[in-house]
Amino acid sequence: MLRVFESVNNLLLTAGIATALLLATGLVDAQEGAIADNSVEAELAKRIETGRGVFETRRKGNCLSCHLVIGSELPGNAGPPLIGMQARWPDREALKAQIYDPTLRNPDTIMPPYGLHRMLTDEELDVLVDYVLSL
Ligand code: HEC
Repeated sequence: MLRVFESVNNLLLTAGIATALLLATGLVDAQEGAIADNSVEAELAKRIETGRGVFETRRKGNCLSCHLVIGSELPGNAGPPLIGMQARWPDREALKAQIYDPTLRNPDTIMPPYGLHRMLTDEELDVLVDYVLSL
């Protein structure tokens, strides 16, 4: 089920992101954190958090209205649950293209073309991809 843990690499990355998130949210004292100096991971954690905002905000992505993510409240189910995304979408650009214009893969999809219709900016799409890959 949790295919995100399929490889050691994914496991390490997930652990890193989780630690960075804990640091970013102040749950762990930054001075005690083993990776306190790792600004790359802290930056990614910030982008993931911003992406989560785009994902959940109704006037932005409103993705929760169709997609379940673990821990979400009252998600819709018109689309598939977004789980194990890094394992299922190893190509970041392909994932971005799916969100930019889902009709490329399925002309009959009900998922809105967020990039094509300028519902989200390129920067919003990028942080959204960071967030989706963390799922
Ligand atoms: C109106 C419902 C709807 C909304 C809103 C929606 N999606 Fe989707 N999405 C779908 C459906 C249905 C599919 C299944 C594939 C298809 O229809 O081609 C899908 C597929 C996907 C996939 C590929 C599925 C997989 O499991 O690999 C991703 C990734 C995705 N959506 C991300 C998003 C993101 C990010 C947002 C918000 C910016 C979003 N979706 C908003 C309906 C929606």
